[in-house]
Amino acid sequence: MVIFKKIEDIKNYISLKNTTGINTGFVPTMGALHEGHLSLIEKARTDGMLVVCSIFLNPTQFNDKKDLEKYPVSTDDDIALLVKAGCDVLFLPAVEEIYPDGVDKMPTYDFGYLDTILEGANRPGHFKGVGQVVSRLLEIVEPHSLYMGQKDYQQCMVVCKLLELTGRQNINLIICPTTREADGLAMSSRNRRLTEPQRVIAGVIYRCLVSIESKQSTTELDIVKKECEELLKAKGFITEYIALANAKDLTLLDSYRKDVPMVALIAAKIGEIRLIDNIVLNKA
Ligand code: PAJ
Repeated sequence: MVIFKKIEDIKNYISLKNTTGINTGFVPTMGALHEGHLSLIEKARTDGMLVVCSIFLNPTQFNDKKDLEKYPVSTDDDIALLVKAGCDVLFLPAVEEIYPDGVDKMPTYDFGYLDTILEGANRPGHFKGVGQVVSRLLEIVEPHSLYMGQKDYQQCMVVCKLLELTGRQNINLIICPTTREADGLAMSSRNRRLTEPQRVIAGVIYRCLVSIESKQSTTELDIVKKECEELLKAKGFITEYIALANAKDLTLLDSYRKDVPMVALIAAKIGEIRLIDNIVLNKA
């Protein structure tokens, strides 16, 4: 694996490789890599791409400063995992490389409705930061395909909109399934910060999502949501949202629907750690 810190160097390398006929598959990350990230690398690899991963802890998408300060950093381990996973190129830029004129000079994008609900409503400015960094990274890497995780469902929709807003619809956005621990907990860099007792109960989020799916033809949504909220509370979580939405446009639903594809989404905090997860509902 080749590692680049400078834009000019990675650009030269990728364009030279592209002239040999190989396409670029890009996996942007913030590091603290786990099997979820590696599943995206693996998918790009089996798609026959020149696999480019970036590790950049983007300060502009953290609405909570403490969250940024406490975000796990494990670059040496990350590099070893990427080599093992068959990643070809790692981009490891400094903040000044990505934002040479400061963040204020960066263009911002209007994600409309998507920025007003769920993660958008609970993390003001978060998607603005995601939009800034992803557009910047796409400008640098110029991938043919972009690999992202369903784990961050709303982020995938925001990035899809970003591709449209920046005229980059030619990039193939490939959304990969969520990798989970044995108890269903979605893998996340933030899981490393869970204490042992917190980790033991964290699988409850996934159990709630599964119950939202399995009760769709037997129980009113309001009741299922209430049950989930109570269960999360009993385990010590503070729920930010439990939502059911149209999986195509994230329009929030107040009851189960047979005529639209649905996604259930949860955000909840245990201690200082905020976890999110979702599942796309199979038809009952
Ligand atoms: P990060 O949280 O590091 O995630 C990088 C990519 O890995 C995202 O596309 C995310 O959805 C995916 N991912 C995370 N956990 C996953 C899991 N359990 N299974 C499958 N995929 C998973 O998301 C970001 O970074 C940033 O916002 C970024 C897009 C890099 C912009 O800074």
